[in-house]
Amino acid sequence: MPIDTRIPLSVGEVARRSGVTIATVHFYEAKGLILGWRSDGNQRRYARDVLRRVAVIKIAQRAGISLAIIKEGLDKLPADRTLTANDWKQLSTSWRDMLNERIRSLAQLRDELDGCIGCGCLSMDDCPLRNPGDRLSGLGSGAVLLERAPVPKE
Ligand code: FES
Repeated sequence: MPIDTRIPLSVGEVARRSGVTIATVHFYEAKGLILGWRSDGNQRRYARDVLRRVAVIKIAQRAGISLAIIKEGLDKLPADRTLTANDWKQLSTSWRDMLNERIRSLAQLRDELDGCIGCGCLSMDDCPLRNPGDRLSGLGSGAVLLERAPVPKE
């Protein structure tokens, strides 16, 4: 049977379909990330497209994006109508640089953690090659090789 997308959802239905707790739905609403209203029977009700917002919030949080940044992005989108593909594209475009930077950092972590990261510890086998005498400390603090463009091996 086709779903009538005009029928509002209860908080329980939103939680069940989104895979979050009812408390989380209320939390997102309290933070202004999603919108609901009170029915004549004084029950919280949500438009069906709230499911997409909750899904995007969950995935963004899992990618390490803060609720503040998520809200900033969602606040730029119209709240009074169902969002279009263009609206979501606007959001993903605004997040593109941040996401690319995260992807780059995660890939580095995945690919370079087994070697010298230029942190000054000199504890790895290739530290003498990549960071002799902690030469990289002259370029800055932290894991210089991860936090900056890679220094070519000599
Ligand atoms: S890993 Fe720390 S200096 Fe090489």
